[in-house]
Amino acid sequence: MFDVEKIRAEFPILAREVYGRPLVYLDSGATAQKPRCVIDTVDRLHRELNANVHRGAHWLSEQTTERYEEARGRIAAFIGARREEVIFTAGATASLNAVARAWGGTNLRPGDNVVVSEMEHHSNLVPWQLAAQQQGAELRMLPFNDGGRLRTELLDRLVDGRTKAVAVTQASNTLGTRPDLRPVIEAAHAVGAVVVVDGCQGVVHGGADVGALGCDFYAFSGHKLYGPTGIGVLWGRHELLEAMPPFLSGGEMVDRVSFERTTFAPVPLKFEAGTPNYIGAIGLGEAVRFLESIPRAEAEAHEAELLAHAVDRLQAIDGLRIYGTEPDKCAILSFNVEGVHPYDLGMILDKLGIAVRTGQHCAEPVMAHYGVTGMCRASLALYNTRAEIDALADGVERAVRMLR
Ligand code: ALA
Repeated sequence: MFDVEKIRAEFPILAREVYGRPLVYLDSGATAQKPRCVIDTVDRLHRELNANVHRGAHWLSEQTTERYEEARGRIAAFIGARREEVIFTAGATASLNAVARAWGGTNLRPGDNVVVSEMEHHSNLVPWQLAAQQQGAELRMLPFNDGGRLRTELLDRLVDGRTKAVAVTQASNTLGTRPDLRPVIEAAHAVGAVVVVDGCQGVVHGGADVGALGCDFYAFSGHKLYGPTGIGVLWGRHELLEAMPPFLSGGEMVDRVSFERTTFAPVPLKFEAGTPNYIGAIGLGEAVRFLESIPRAEAEAHEAELLAHAVDRLQAIDGLRIYGTEPDKCAILSFNVEGVHPYDLGMILDKLGIAVRTGQHCAEPVMAHYGVTGMCRASLALYNTRAEIDALADGVERAVRMLR
């Protein structure tokens, strides 16, 4: 049995109060809280083991390097990847920008096109927009329907012989939709295009196996996966990474340097110029170790149950609309209440100790799709409880009574 109280006990922040009320944290889609093992690991590294990686001729540096590379291996196994295909970055935004710039800058030509889904977070849209503009390529939108289903039946019309990349999310940060990526990948690969998957929410809700997924690049952030901030991953197929030029250059990413010419280190180090965030990477490895200690199917079932309960409770509120109603969506719930501004709603919920996100969720095209300027979003994690969902629904009811 999934014991949520036992899980909660591992997250010190969940015991705190806000405005004299117990914290109800429903903003894990923005950043997840950290278990004690991650907090302790980061603390211990600073206190006992800090030294730069891949550089020192001394014991501390060897220890840190070993743990950094161990974390890479653990994270690689967690997403079904080869170790050397896992590049540490500052986060998913850095990963996706890197692909759009380095891969896009090399492979996009005037007249080519990039297909981007309408439900992308800005991080998997704006970098492609910039790359397309710079290279004289076209940006095409793969739309979703009002229920939040990606309209993969339109792929035939959008993907053609000039399509070089398709950018798509594994799970929408706003709608919760987990698009069926198979037809997207098949259509892209049929014309030789690469598929770049934003795994930020997907890797948290259900995990990822990049081999089974069949994509070409995959990006996610550590802080949404119960790890530290400032660390993320870019995974890419080995042959693509070999061919891709570095997106940052400097120390430790080189093989030989002279004023005439520089040759680069093998992947992944070719892409890790400068001092990497090794403490973040080791902390993320610890977060993955923590997740591996929890049966994934049970955690998923727990989140699905919470989501179903939240939908039941919220749907019963007069004038409330939920955006994204796909049956197998992940535990992210965006909504608005007729006649109530989402910021006002969020502000009142905050005063009740309930943390949600309001606004455009870095997905303005999703707002445009529904003709709204913002939404209120509750994003759940494995440490949330049914009582917290009830607190949210009661809070929304109360706020609506006050605001209407
Ligand atoms: N991308 C994060 C979110 O969806 C910050 O809230």
